[in-house]
Amino acid sequence: MQIREGLTFDDVLLLPRHSAVFSRKDVSTKALLSRHISLNIPLISANMDTVTESGMARTMARMGGIGIIHRFLSIEREVEEVRRVKRAENVIIEDPFTVLPDITLGEAKNFMRREGISGVLVVKMKAGRKQLVGILTRRDLLFETDDRQKVSSLMSKELVTARPDVTLEKAKHILHDYRIEKLPLTTKDGYLAGLITLKDIVERMQNPTSSKDKKGRLMVGAAVGVKEDTLLRTDLLLKAGADVIVIDVAHGHNSRAIETTKLLRKTFGSKIEIIAGNIATPEAARDLAKAGADGLKVGIGPGAACTTRIVTGVGVPQLSAIMDVAKEAAKLGIPFIADGGIKNSGDLSKALAAGANTAMIGNLLAGTKESPGEYILDRGVAYKYYRGMASYEAASEKTRIDAGGQGGGPADGFFRSPEGASGRVPYRGDAGMVVTDLVAGLRSSMSYLGTRTLKEFQKNAEFIRMTDAGLSESGPHGVK
Ligand code: XMP
Repeated sequence: MQIREGLTFDDVLLLPRHSAVFSRKDVSTKALLSRHISLNIPLISANMDTVTESGMARTMARMGGIGIIHRFLSIEREVEEVRRVKRAENVIIEDPFTVLPDITLGEAKNFMRREGISGVLVVKMKAGRKQLVGILTRRDLLFETDDRQKVSSLMSKELVTARPDVTLEKAKHILHDYRIEKLPLTTKDGYLAGLITLKDIVERMQNPTSSKDKKGRLMVGAAVGVKEDTLLRTDLLLKAGADVIVIDVAHGHNSRAIETTKLLRKTFGSKIEIIAGNIATPEAARDLAKAGADGLKVGIGPGAACTTRIVTGVGVPQLSAIMDVAKEAAKLGIPFIADGGIKNSGDLSKALAAGANTAMIGNLLAGTKESPGEYILDRGVAYKYYRGMASYEAASEKTRIDAGGQGGGPADGFFRSPEGASGRVPYRGDAGMVVTDLVAGLRSSMSYLGTRTLKEFQKNAEFIRMTDAGLSESGPHGVK
């Protein structure tokens, strides 16, 4: 048997080229996520339960990338996470949050805190429709201390409203003229038909390159598995507005994953954008593309929390996996994501130069404000938790969710030899800063290679192999 050599990011460097690009600003980082979706930055937050729920997905889309909501959630919760992204920065929120007038202030405050909103519309239900009766704003709550009071006694009843067909310009004028932050939309007979908020308009103006769907809402993806509930889950996620469905299995070159790709394509036709994975070989790329995938996810075992290669002895060093799949993907005309193992902007640049269209990030984003969970302080240093989705901890949680929130843990599943690790990662502040740094490094890399687009970047890329001495020379040394 002949043994081929596999390489990864730390084995190589990109050769600099003659360049007429003088500024990082002169390069475009536009990239294809899948056959029909283009992004302004080639970054995707990983579908992991310590990385992407709605908060992360909103930030990723605002920055011009996209987040994929993980699937270790009940169907209802995953759908709700998608809805939360779709509600943000939408000019018209079609389905705004509401409360009933007879709940207490304490209940309303809890609801608002949970949903991350500063005010809420108050409605009465009439024959299944919502009649707008008031609004509870930040100002109404500011000096109220008695949480037992009814919402009806505190809400503002004099409402400025508009009709659902109001233009954005007109809505801006109304918000300005009346110095209000929320403009409910109602039908002629006073039923709620939507909401426009000042915050969404301002955010929209501040993020002109964000990733938007046809309706002007932020884009978001959602992961599904290959079990019995996949069809139902996918259907509801699409109805909630998910722009792309990621079929998420550890070994994507597997007949179940291929059958699921075929089934989703057959059931939803052109209404669905499918990314399938994870894979690491050209044969897998061919089989999944043939089954109907619009995009692929490449990476078996390179992730920071992965132990697949240790536990199974299976995998392909990530740079080689990318280069192998790139040749086949180019023939098939299918974009792909380099998923896992990116430790810095240099690795990102190498992954894209080697042929990936975009990159998925787990570890680097797990320590940010937007990832699920709170940060912890240990002896003055802040951390967040990060875990592999095949770790013992994540699998126990999944068993618990599948059992409807009860039980869980090893007794309920046959979970031995986990293929993921769990632990903590340094707290890094805003995800936006991590993304900005990664993209700045990539832009700089593109200018070193004299290229203005990612396509040119791949064409101009030539790798040089380095030794361990080369690698230690590459990092800071001799500086204390
Ligand atoms: P990074 O390096 O960015 O990688 O943290 C994120 C990717 O790691 C993969 N992943 C796993 N791989 N066992 C594995 O072998 C796991 O438990 C696991 N959890 C996540 C996944 O592809 C993710 O996007």
